[in-house]
Amino acid sequence: MTLRFPQFPLLLLCFCCSVIIAHRDEDPVTKTMEDFSGYPIDEPHSFFQKSLSLLSVDTESLQKEIDELAAFSDTPAPSVTRILYTEKDVLARRYIKNLMGLSGLSVREDAVGNIFGRWDGHEPELPAVATGSHIDAIPYSGKYDGVVGVLGAIEAINVLQRSGFRPRRSLEVILFTSEEPTRFGISCLGSRLLAGSEVLVEALKTTVDAQNRSFLDAARSAEYAKDQDDLSSVFLKKGTYSAFVELHIEQGPLLEEEGISIGIVTAIAAPASIKLEFEGNGGHAGAVLMPHRNDAGLAAAELALAVEKHVLESGSIDTVGTVGILELHPGAINSIPSKSHLEIDTRDIDEQRRNIVIEKIQHSASKIAIDRGVRLSEFKIINQDPPALAEKTIIGAMEAASKELNLKHKLMISRAYHDSLFMARVSPMGMIFIPCYKGYSHKPEEYASSQDIANGVKVLALTLAKLSLH
Ligand code: GLV
Ligand code: MN
Ligand code: MN
Repeated sequence: MTLRFPQFPLLLLCFCCSVIIAHRDEDPVTKTMEDFSGYPIDEPHSFFQKSLSLLSVDTESLQKEIDELAAFSDTPAPSVTRILYTEKDVLARRYIKNLMGLSGLSVREDAVGNIFGRWDGHEPELPAVATGSHIDAIPYSGKYDGVVGVLGAIEAINVLQRSGFRPRRSLEVILFTSEEPTRFGISCLGSRLLAGSEVLVEALKTTVDAQNRSFLDAARSAEYAKDQDDLSSVFLKKGTYSAFVELHIEQGPLLEEEGISIGIVTAIAAPASIKLEFEGNGGHAGAVLMPHRNDAGLAAAELALAVEKHVLESGSIDTVGTVGILELHPGAINSIPSKSHLEIDTRDIDEQRRNIVIEKIQHSASKIAIDRGVRLSEFKIINQDPPALAEKTIIGAMEAASKELNLKHKLMISRAYHDSLFMARVSPMGMIFIPCYKGYSHKPEEYASSQDIANGVKVLALTLAKLSLH
């Protein structure tokens, strides 16, 4: 067979430089690669052939695990609802820790319940290569968002172990706590903390959920944050990881529509969220005549339409905005709303354009309050995050892995946010997308085929192997 895939030798050259050629016998990297491949590395073609044929995904077990994990849900199948630190979340975490143990990983947890499963490399003192995602699920969502990146990561480790690979840098699987903002309104809570957010450490001392249960109390009920109110122990030391790679369903339709197996993420769009409240006098729905009302519900309705208008004014298809929560108090058909509570999500790949939308929303909220004689009693920007770029070497490794596995791939941006957005602050980052049915996500119809998941796991495994030897 001729050398049809020159990228692999190129990658080896790039990763391991001339040292490999000059000191083959003594160099541990070379030795690991030779151990993995069974071939001397100056026969990269043979190495390439053999190692790839050894990468086999246990698709059946992986699908079974995805289905079993989906059963830890507070709503009936096919929907999944798994909220931070609830009983179902704790059981699901136990399920993952058990799988990590079965894969021979050493498991540890931090004070907020980020879970780490480590496979020691033969140079364990080097910064490790990490992968992972989340398993919490918003109300009435599906079973693949995040889960593919956790169970898929454990399976990628299994794939490498079965192939006989021995990592140079340690490989670590991470389950991130609360990527979804459902319970405490804070997205990517675990990865934000890992990335060293002092602001979040302070905020968590007083954060409460909708039932007024404090974050710390809830965390303790799940056996985390034991004696600590200060959660800065979670911060990662700079240089802990040499690379972080997350596998995830696309959550958009492009890969499926274009018949492409693998999306290689180059950037993650910038998310922001806002919480606000209007207050009026309320009153009897029959007795208070229209000229005398200051209806907090109508102020909310008007602002929801203003959000849509401001997003569309950006003129870019990449600007989006959603009023995902709109609650009225007291919530009785015959009572004029005296209070309305809105939560608004807005994103863009262009941070400045997204910020202009936020400013316009703030301006509209104040104006609507004046015009309608209600009070804007709260306007809080919960998060206003910058976008993140994937790192070139990791993009190169993911591209090379896809090519070597003969999988059609394309570069793309992520419109959804992910823990990778925050891991990018403390480590070079990359993301692998796989197609999902009609791009559905955050609803029970979310689906990814076993074949597409297996492709993603293989690309992840090969990428981790490359980065581990780097
Ligand atoms: C993640 O769940 C997102 O909302 O993008
Ligand atoms: Mn999600
Ligand atoms: Mn997700």
